[in-house]
Amino acid sequence: MSHPSYPMPLYAHAGRGRFEDVYEPAEDSFLFIDALERDAEELQGLSPSVCLEVGSGSGVVSAFLASVVGSSALYLCTDVNSLAASCTATTATCNDVALQPVITDLVQCLLPRLCGKVDVLLFNPPYVVTPSEELLSNQGLFYLVTIVENFPEEIIRLLGEGGLTGGPCLSRRAHNERLSVLRFHRTPLSRALAS
Ligand SMILES: C[S@@+](CC[C@H](N)C(=O)[O-])C[C@H]1O[C@@H](n2cnc3c(N)ncnc32)[C@H](O)[C@@H]1O
Repeated sequence: MSHPSYPMPLYAHAGRGRFEDVYEPAEDSFLFIDALERDAEELQGLSPSVCLEVGSGSGVVSAFLASVVGSSALYLCTDVNSLAASCTATTATCNDVALQPVITDLVQCLLPRLCGKVDVLLFNPPYVVTPSEELLSNQGLFYLVTIVENFPEEIIRLLGEGGLTGGPCLSRRAHNERLSVLRFHRTPLSRALAS
């Protein structure tokens, strides 16, 4: 099915100048954005209230999501790097979207308040770790970028044990890496138990 294409957010400030130590959008970020663009209609249909990107770096992925979903959602963007939080704020301004940067380890300072409330959860981790599946709302979607060396099948199995069903939604070879975006939702049984 064809869908409108959404512009790539502006991010020329990322990875240079005062944001030199902030992750500059790369193939993994672009694959992530492509996966969200492919799911644009579904994401809009979800009418998310809370979107959370863990490790937002430049903020370009959340800026893209915000341009697809619209201004009715809250976009929380965590990062351990305070410069990434500033860069995310700058990306928001440059792209006329509202993103809320939070400096924290993974989701630590948000976890108690966000359990079961996150409708769209985004993560492109620098190492194998997944944020708590308890964050996801009953209708929520969790997108996770992996490389082959992260053993995506093992991640799918482990998250399955935690009540999430999912699999690859988009894959691409970039240089010598095989990148995949995995997409998860709550399994019906875990939905019933959570509500
Ligand atoms: C590979 S970059 C991805 C950036 C962005 N999500 C993207 O796709 O372009 C990973 C980001 O996670 C951040 N990060 C690393 N460890 C973290 C942690 N424990 N908690 C929060 N953020 C972390 C890094 O500072 C970096 O900005």
